[in-house]
Amino acid sequence: MFPPPRDRPQHVRLAIVMVGLPARGKTHIARRLSRYFSWLGYRTRVFNVGNYRRAHLGSQKDHRFFDPSNQEAAAARAMVARMALDDMIAWFGEGGEVGIYDATNSTRQRRAEVAARCQEAGLQVVFVESICEDEEVIESNIRQTKLHMPDYAGMDPDAAVADFQQRIANYAKVYEPVEPSEGSYIKVIDVGRKVEAHRIQGYLPSRLVYFLINLHPLPRPVYLARHGESTFNIEGRLGGDPPLSPRGEAFAARLAGYVAKEIGEGDLVIFTSTLRRSIETARVLVRPFVEWRALDEIDAGDCDGMTYEEIKRRLPAEYEARKQDKFEYRYPRGESYRDVIKRLEPVIVEIERERTPVLVIAHQAVLRALYAYLMDHPPYECPFIDIPLHTVIKLTPSTYACKEERVYLGPDPSPPITSSKNSPST
Ligand code: SIN
Repeated sequence: MFPPPRDRPQHVRLAIVMVGLPARGKTHIARRLSRYFSWLGYRTRVFNVGNYRRAHLGSQKDHRFFDPSNQEAAAARAMVARMALDDMIAWFGEGGEVGIYDATNSTRQRRAEVAARCQEAGLQVVFVESICEDEEVIESNIRQTKLHMPDYAGMDPDAAVADFQQRIANYAKVYEPVEPSEGSYIKVIDVGRKVEAHRIQGYLPSRLVYFLINLHPLPRPVYLARHGESTFNIEGRLGGDPPLSPRGEAFAARLAGYVAKEIGEGDLVIFTSTLRRSIETARVLVRPFVEWRALDEIDAGDCDGMTYEEIKRRLPAEYEARKQDKFEYRYPRGESYRDVIKRLEPVIVEIERERTPVLVIAHQAVLRALYAYLMDHPPYECPFIDIPLHTVIKLTPSTYACKEERVYLGPDPSPPITSSKNSPST
């Protein structure tokens, strides 16, 4: 398991208990929360009761199975719900930190049972209830996600939608919204148009609110591009604030052409770092852009301006320490990848909040961290993610995944040599 940060209090144990009728985006929210907390370095896992039901009771169940008056089915559903909860509690016992119990949890009685079990295990509990009465949103959610579940494999789509609507109606017969007397909760109403928080205290539950008020389900691409080649890239030097090389300038011009073709007259939010090579690349696009200090390259501290050969020769202990653990390694008087992730959190939330396409023109280490978030890779993989120069990475999120396209815009038949996996972080 991924080790927790050294500067973390040991008592972090949060159970997020999802609540809501089917097709209200619970699983979408659960997965996004999981990605966010994992990326922040917390051991996070989703326990989805629907998956337990499919694994233990079979997937092809029609709406009658979800009718609360079907006692045999109700007992079977309660059993798989308990299995998922038992597993989550056992997982907390093994060092889990943020567990997400993804189920309808539609009655007060069920939630009281879940909360009691979690509290007995010493967990802090927050209910996250997703409420939506907009029929169009619900039907679109059913068509985009539910029809692709094994539950409806091979079935006529309209018949599947009709069955799922009846499943929802069955849940609605017993559904009781979360009430203040039940404890801490956050209600996400009409896909985030309104968010209500009740008795939210402490660091992690506050992050939860911060993230949820910015989350929306509209898919729009996020483009990641390193600045054009800099004069330091040519020499293999870390950091500094060098200008673009002639090849870097040529890339900026091609990037402008790519953006014009992709976006046309449409809106595009552009973020750059405050460093010259990133700003020089963005300027050529002749569109407004926002400079973020948080997007500056990993701070190489005392190694700034050196090549890896020089570090090996002049600071051999540092060179070795970095080789041992590239994620935790902190340059003397500089930063580690973990430090970079911490300072990128507001950028991530801003990217989540934006409803138009976003282009981030930044640096290798920083883009590795953003990519890890968007593609849901564990943070400790960051130092090994390939982010070549002169390549645009287009990431388009859908409900449960993110599609990746890489477009090489270089002048050469293949990416420049500085783009290899373990190249300097600048
Ligand atoms: C399911 O079986 O698909 C969902 C179970 C639940 O959360 O009620």
